[in-house]
Amino acid sequence: MQLLRLLVALAVVLFSVVVIAAEDYYKVLGLAKSASEKDIKRAYRTLSKKYHPDKNPGDDTAREKFVEIADAYDVLSTSTLRKIYDQYGHDGVEQHRKGQAAGGSHDPFDLFSRFFGGGGHSGHAPGHRRGPDMEVRASLPLRDFYTGREINFLVEKQQICDSCEGTGSKDRHVETCDRCAGRGVVLQKHMLAPGMFQQVQMQCDRCHGQGKKIKNPCPVCAGSRVVKNQVETSAVIEPGMGKGTRLVFENEADESPDWIAGDLIVILDEKEAELGRSAEERTDGTFFRRKGKDLFWKETLSLREAWMGDWTRNLTHLDGHVVHLGRRRGEVVQPLAVETVSGEGMPHYSEGHLHDHHEDDGSAGNLYIEYTVVLPDQMESGMEKDFHALWEKWRKKIGVDLAKDSGRPVAPPPAEGKDEL
Ligand SMILES: *[C@@H]1O[C@H](CO)[C@@H](O)[C@H](O)[C@H]1NC(C)=O
Ligand SMILES: [Zn+2]
Ligand SMILES: [Zn+2]
Repeated sequence: MQLLRLLVALAVVLFSVVVIAAEDYYKVLGLAKSASEKDIKRAYRTLSKKYHPDKNPGDDTAREKFVEIADAYDVLSTSTLRKIYDQYGHDGVEQHRKGQAAGGSHDPFDLFSRFFGGGGHSGHAPGHRRGPDMEVRASLPLRDFYTGREINFLVEKQQICDSCEGTGSKDRHVETCDRCAGRGVVLQKHMLAPGMFQQVQMQCDRCHGQGKKIKNPCPVCAGSRVVKNQVETSAVIEPGMGKGTRLVFENEADESPDWIAGDLIVILDEKEAELGRSAEERTDGTFFRRKGKDLFWKETLSLREAWMGDWTRNLTHLDGHVVHLGRRRGEVVQPLAVETVSGEGMPHYSEGHLHDHHEDDGSAGNLYIEYTVVLPDQMESGMEKDFHALWEKWRKKIGVDLAKDSGRPVAPPPAEGKDEL
């Protein structure tokens, strides 16, 4: 009984500890303690979009998570706070904040809008202006579509100035224009005639219609609130994705404090095949042609091989594995014959694809081999004589009447005896 009571008490203590302790900030952002400033930013960008209340209507856990993420970012992105947090944890940060005069705002929506523009709402909230979408093209060799990979590239885009946090002001202080009281327009009275006035609405000349006044413009963006940056972006190419696939990065287009950033769209193109230097660029697969899920290849056979069989070919596929082709002795391959090597086409990929589900069985495509046959055009005279004699002997014995089998609507005159083999 005593023991049970003790256990219950212990459980209560443990439970309350769990409730009180805030989640570790690094954990919230999914980062290691050694994370760089860039990692922290990137984590915030991704997670804040994912858990934004606009995207998770009615989901209280998402909302809490959104606030938590903003809080974690707020601390970890400020070097002094991060140091305090690393050393003294949440309590240390609380103490420090109490000691400070009420600093900048900790509104998570404010923070979000500093990253993505707009009023702190994600791109799906109605009634908010949205910036233009942005399209970039990435050209990849067929191999990348086959094996899949992550690509990294730079996108030049407009971003909200970090230095002034999109205010345009060096001290981040923005005053309301006192001439127009923030409206950006003023009314002016014109006297048309004695005692007769006309009121005209004009753009405020003091703030140029902005409604705001900045004493010290930000030196980084010269007060324009935005800067052009080369932004490193990465995209995951899944095996089997088609050319022309559009990868959408929500709210990653040009940013501005005046709008919610539109989407960055990466369109995948297939590069012209070329013989590269590295071993992986020198496989037969480099020159496969693709149509949907299927791959195509032309293989050349000699007359002897096509007719008499007994040959092998080893095709190196796009990822280096080998596809064996071949015929035993006596197996004939007709010119232009097409062989299907099933399952050796592109891997199956369907997500984000418009697929007819009746046709799509979820399996990989096929590799189609089309055979061409080359005939020898040079023979030594002895060889020519031998072959000629062989033909003469055998066509007379077992030759067929080609005219009879030609399938022509008008029957040609009967041939004299046997013709060809
Ligand atoms: C292809 O590979 C097989 C087995 O690995 C081998 O026996 C054959 O000789 C190879 N054929 C060619 C044309 O290299
Ligand atoms: Zn004004
Ligand atoms: Zn600035």
